[in-house]
Parts: sequence; C-alpha cells; structure tokens
Amino acid sequence: MLRYGGDYNPEQWPPGTWAEDDELMRRARVNSATVGVFSWSLLEPEEGRYSFGWLDDTLDRLHSNGVGVVLATPTASPPPWFTLAYPEAMPVTPDGVRRTHGSRDTYCAAAPAYRDAARRIAAALAERYAEHPAVWLWHVHNEYGTLCWCDATAEAFRRWLRARYGGLGALNDAWGTAFWSQRYSDWAQVLPPRATQWRHNPTQSLDFRRFWSDELRAAYREQADAIRAVRPDATVTTNFMVPEYQNLDFWSWSSDVDIVAIDHYLTDRGIAGAADTAFGADRARSFNGGRPWLLMEQATSTISAGDRSLTKPPGQMLRDSLAHVARGADAVQFFQWRASRYGAETWHAAMVPHAGADSRVYREVVRLGEVLDRLGEVAGSTVRADTAIVWDADSWWGLDSPILPSSALRYLPALRAAHRTLWTDGVTADFVAAGADLSGYKLVLAPALYVLPDAAAANLSSYVERGGHLAVWYFSGIVDENLHVRLGGYPGALRDLLGVRVEEFHPLAEGETVALSGGATAHTWTEDLRTTTAEPVLAYPDGSAAVTRNRYGAGTAWYVSCGLDDTSYASLLGEIRRRAGTGPEGEPTPGVEVVRRNGKRNDWLFVLNHTGAPATVPATGHELITDRPVTGTLTVPAGGVAVVRVGADGTPTRT
Ligand code: GLA
Repeated sequence: MLRYGGDYNPEQWPPGTWAEDDELMRRARVNSATVGVFSWSLLEPEEGRYSFGWLDDTLDRLHSNGVGVVLATPTASPPPWFTLAYPEAMPVTPDGVRRTHGSRDTYCAAAPAYRDAARRIAAALAERYAEHPAVWLWHVHNEYGTLCWCDATAEAFRRWLRARYGGLGALNDAWGTAFWSQRYSDWAQVLPPRATQWRHNPTQSLDFRRFWSDELRAAYREQADAIRAVRPDATVTTNFMVPEYQNLDFWSWSSDVDIVAIDHYLTDRGIAGAADTAFGADRARSFNGGRPWLLMEQATSTISAGDRSLTKPPGQMLRDSLAHVARGADAVQFFQWRASRYGAETWHAAMVPHAGADSRVYREVVRLGEVLDRLGEVAGSTVRADTAIVWDADSWWGLDSPILPSSALRYLPALRAAHRTLWTDGVTADFVAAGADLSGYKLVLAPALYVLPDAAAANLSSYVERGGHLAVWYFSGIVDENLHVRLGGYPGALRDLLGVRVEEFHPLAEGETVALSGGATAHTWTEDLRTTTAEPVLAYPDGSAAVTRNRYGAGTAWYVSCGLDDTSYASLLGEIRRRAGTGPEGEPTPGVEVVRRNGKRNDWLFVLNHTGAPATVPATGHELITDRPVTGTLTVPAGGVAVVRVGADGTPTRT
C-alpha cells in the first residue's frame, strides 16, 4: 500500500466540518493524516495540564474512517505560556535580539527549559497514544533547523567543541586563531559566531553549523527515545526539508530516523521544477540508504515564485506526486488537508481548497487517490543507480561564506547542474558521502567538493584505483576538515589522483567568458593548470589544459577546471558516462522522464511526460493506471503519466 494524505488540523475548524472531512477523505481514498504538528497550546494549555480530549476523538474518528495517523509531537511551536515561564529559552539572533512568540519556531533548541518541555509533551503523547491502532508513524517536531546564538547555545557549543577537540590548544590550531589575534585562553571566551565587526573566522562558522546539526539531532533523539520508552517498536521520523534549507547534515541524521521523510515545495515551474523534484527525491532515497522513503509534505497547487504564488496547471499535481513515487517514495502527503481560513498560511494550497470539494484541485486529489490505489504493488520496491553524486554538508557550509575567491562558488547550483544534466539524459543518480563505499557505482561525480578530509580523499582515490570513474569539478579537495588549505598546488587532496597541479585561480566576472578548444566556452571560473600525468581534453586559449582525464590504477579521474557552457557541460558528461559505461535505458526523449523501480518479481517503469505533446516510449508489460497491456510501445498523453509493470531484470512480467 502507498500512503496518501496530508496534515490534518481539525482543531482549527468547527466540529461541523469533521463529518465532511471524513466523507471527502473516503472519496479521495486518503489513508494517512498527520495530526498535531502545531497543537501544543491546545494539548498543554497550561504547563503540566494536558487536554487530550479532541485528539482522542480525532484519532478514533480517523481510525474508524480507515485513515492511519502520523502522530506529530508539537514541539516546533511552544505555547505563549512557555515564553513567559522561560524567557531565556526564546531564540536569539546573531546580533543579540531575543525573539518572542507570535509566529512559530520560537524556541532555542539548546535551551534546557525547552528541551525538558519538549521531552515531557512527547512522553505524554507517547503514553497516551502508543497503543492507538490508528498510529502508524511518529513524526517528531517539524522541519528541524531553526538556529540560535543565545547563552545556552554558547554553552552547548563549548561542550560540543570540548568533545571534538579535547583542549583549547587543538581548538586554536583548528580554528587558526593566530590569524587576527583570536587566540582563546579560556573556554568562556569561545562563542557562537555572533554579530562581529567584519568577517567571521570561517572554521568557527563551520563548526557552529556542525554543532547545531548535532544539537538538533540530540533534541530529536530525546523525543524519539521518549516515544520508544513506551513503544519500543514505534517507527519514528521527522520531516527533512529539501532542497534549499541546509541546517542539517542529513547523512548523520539518517541513522537516527527509522525512515527518511522529506518535504518538497517547488520553487520552479516546467522542466526546471520537474528536475528539481528528482533532485530532492534522489537525495531522500539516498539518505534512506536506498530504501523506500516518505514524501511527507508538498503543495497541491501553488508554487512560490518570488513575489507571487503560481498555481500548478491541471495534471501537474499527479505528475509531481508520481515523480516522487518513481524515485522510491512509498507515501504521498501534502501540507495540508483543508486550506486555512485564517492564520499565516491562509493562502497556501491544500487538498480541499477554500472553494471546497466542488473544485478542480479536490477532483484531482480524488483522481490521485485512485491512481495511488492502483499503484499499491510498487510499495517496498527500490530504485537502482550505477551513477552517484557526492553530497557533502561540510562543503555546502564551507562555501556558504564571504571569504572565497568568487561569490559565484556556490554549492547547490553546482550539485543541481550535475544532477540535472544526468536527469536530462535519463540517468537516475544516487547521492553518496565522499567516504562511503563507492564500489557499486560505475561513475561518481564530485562537484564543489571543497572540504575533503584525508580519509575521504583516500576513499575517492582507491575507488578510481580499483576501476571506478570519477569526475571532479573545480574548487574541490581544496581544504581539509578545518578549512586549512592543502598546500603545494591545488587541488591539494586530489592532485595525484587527477594528475594536475594548479598554481592560481582566475575567477571570471559575471558575463565574462573564455573561449576553449572545440568550441566550448568557460564562464565563472578558470585556472592556471599544469598536467602532470593527465591528458588534456579541452584547452584554454594559451594551450594549457582546462579539462583533463587521468588514468589512475584501473580507473579514470576527470577534472573540470572551469565553468562550462551548458552544451559543453552536457556533452562532456555524456562522454564521461560513455567511457564509464553508464547510460539511460533507451534513448531519452526530451522532457519525458523514465524511471525504473525494482521489485523482487517485477519492475515498474514510470513514464512522466512533462511536455505539451504526446510521447511514445518503448515498453512491454502492463500499464497499471489504465489497466491495459502494453506491447512494444507506450504513448503517454501530454502532461500525463504511465506506470508499466515489466519483468524484473529482463525476465517476463509476472502478475
Ligand atoms: C513547511 C511546514 C508546514 C507548512 C509548509 C508550507 O513544510 O512543515 O507546516 O508551513 O511548509 O509550505
């Protein structure tokens, strides 16, 4: 079964709407509702006094309506009484302004009073509902990430630093405090990177991001433990926000959640939006170790696009949803069931819009429910990829800095470019950590891998030595885990592997380009590069190499020392893929996404037509949405989706 539903907040509605909710959920085949995410002030109206009546009724009602419950702990929005009782637990900005309630996420996650209160309400919910038959999943908190710079944070930061460095000497060395007279002689002097006169110490800033991710993990684990203390076999998770929100190191978090759940809100339309959905979904699957994962939130309609929200055209919601399922999601949920009549998210799309059930959006919600029902057999199947992209939180945080040689050195766009080029070519990619076991991949891409510890660099080298293919983009392998430059020529950690040595960078101005050999164009970044063992693939005007290829052991390592125009980037990556022996199944049709989910007995081909014209692809098997056999070719209408049950690994289809 695929789970289907959304955030459900009946406490924000008069009881008269509940019977209609039940009826509309039944009609839409909703089988999952996330309850209680922002209900703390109702559940605990005064400190220590709980009021569970409405939640009892809601869980019972949903259960009798056949709807499973994702029970959330409400700790992302403490009640106003909490502010007055514990003013010291309110979040403080880098420049010392203490925020107050009136919105959400008004807490410091490192403040003991907040942590205690959060643990207590989680434990109280667990005690009351651990055995409730409706609850299939526990959803701790909501989108962890809110930062704080208060005194409690400073204390927790110092604890984390002591555990990492042992003594102040090691901290001073790691942070390079000899620069600008920052040497610490007492732990009390060590602070979070609060507002200061000019540039922060970059290693202090990086350690603060690492610390905060760990601090939030500890807060998450306390609540998960409180739930498991009552119900050891509970499935517990929280919702990760991908792709833009980067306050967590998801590789470390994924070992703490029982199943990865993500929220994905589109910020782009058309093909760019479709590519971005795949970018989020492939990461969700990878963070979950390749196993099926959950789409916890998305929007039925609006896409926030700068100064206004844009509605999704008919059919897009179904396509977006199945794009997640294609890449391994076993749940499709939305924020939220009913569009709010009041509050800060009044204008957010929902499954039941302000117009009510007599609306295009609700009709599409019903249709999506039917389709997901027909696709139940894909639940539990996986997605295999032989190409991977290195994902690294330290490099993102390290590049999120004003000290770099160019402000155009940005992490997410570099990762997106690599993923989108593969996506356009019909290649499904995993994401991996630089230190992970890479032996299952024919090709690994490393864009913007700025921070590279010794062990991870050695891992990449031994992957190539044993026959792997690796492509590295500029400004990778430049610094160690403390952001100390690796000396002797860039990219220090990868010089031997890549067979190149770079003496100087030449960042380009916005709009400035350099003509390369073969008609290619460089933008953003160029380098003064000398080959040692590598052979040139593309050259700068002075004949020096711009893109190189190096045989290393049994494998090949490519280096791209400049920003490349889109066409050259795509054709280079195509060439790298061909040599690595990775490719899409069949010739890709522009704008038509084909993804395979692998099961034990069968596979399923998801065909998503993002174009405005019908598309025909080769397929043989059984189409599940229309319940029709497919022999040889399949035509998918403009903007449509098809899911074909095909034989696993080339064997005949089994029903
Ligand atoms: C997030 C939150 C929800 C809601 C949506 C709106 O994902 O988890 O509570 O605010 O955004 O898009």
